[in-house]
Amino acid sequence: VSGPALKPPAGVTVLFDEPLAGWTSFGIGGPAEILCLPTDEDQLRQVLDWARQAGRPVTVLGGGSNVLISDRGVPGLVIILRQGFDRISHQPLGPEEVLIRAGAGFSSGRLVSLAGEHGWLDLAFLAGVPGSIGGAAVVNAGAAEGWMSDVVQGLRVLNGQGRSRRLDRAELDYTYRCLRLDPDKIVVEVELKSRLAEPGTVSQMIGRWLKRRRVRQPGGAGSAGCFFKNPPRDSAGRLIEAVGLKGRRCGAAMISDVHANFIVNLGRARAADVMVLAERARTEVWIRFGIELEPEVRFLGRGREKWPWL
Ligand code: EPU
Repeated sequence: VSGPALKPPAGVTVLFDEPLAGWTSFGIGGPAEILCLPTDEDQLRQVLDWARQAGRPVTVLGGGSNVLISDRGVPGLVIILRQGFDRISHQPLGPEEVLIRAGAGFSSGRLVSLAGEHGWLDLAFLAGVPGSIGGAAVVNAGAAEGWMSDVVQGLRVLNGQGRSRRLDRAELDYTYRCLRLDPDKIVVEVELKSRLAEPGTVSQMIGRWLKRRRVRQPGGAGSAGCFFKNPPRDSAGRLIEAVGLKGRRCGAAMISDVHANFIVNLGRARAADVMVLAERARTEVWIRFGIELEPEVRFLGRGREKWPWL
């Protein structure tokens, strides 16, 4: 990005060559060419204009908990919606239900705390799901107890031209761990509907699910959650364990010895190390079971062409 007409928009925090490792739960990744942190929709529009005029690609990152960022970084603009996009409001829909509007940058963890306090029964499933609610809506985050697609009523999005639009639930093409959304659309606000229940009961559910996660899964830090989607009626973790890869290491990356569908960063792992393990797991599971594992984690940045199955 160069030339007088292409100065960064005034007032927007813009960081050049910003290492992205610290913006992800994996703790892995090279720099963003330009990291932009707009704090309202107007700033976001200016950033999108800037990208368009400069002809640079745009990548949006949420809480960074379901991504693996290339060691060679991400070209163009990376946009993260956090401060300013972390507002929340809720209104009753009759005596038994509530509608919640949360900014895309609102954290899923904080939403779970509120669910416990207010008795938002249908949001309890988010217990232990990391990241931001915008990201959760885009990857259809979930657990055995529920998915985002069960509770999302609508999304407010901005397109590449900066126009705002509400997409109703009926227009959203949700499948397992996936929302098909035009690539130029950025989710800025998420509408969620929940039944109301006794707050004590909801808090207890949340506590139980958090505990189960702590036992069955390695902690959230240093991983991106489950690496592969579960194949129909099976579990990627079970399959990877069955081919004997639990605890297998490459550099500072390891297939978790707690849950084999998690790849963990033991310190200074590189994305390349993680991909060696992922590729190995895919190959062995294919040879032994004839099942092709599909990634759940999204790979962002340079070098993606090296892994055609991503
Ligand atoms: N299993 C093994 N070995 C392992 C891991 C699991 O044999 O290393 C077996 C378990 O014993 C169990 C079965 O596989 O019989 C299923 O395991 P688990 O209950 O841990 O759930 P999962 O199918 O592996 C899914 C989601 C998780 C979510 C949990 C709990 C996917 C890919 N994973 O895991 O989501 O937290 O259920 O609800 O859908 C994520 O998406 O990032 C994620 C962590």
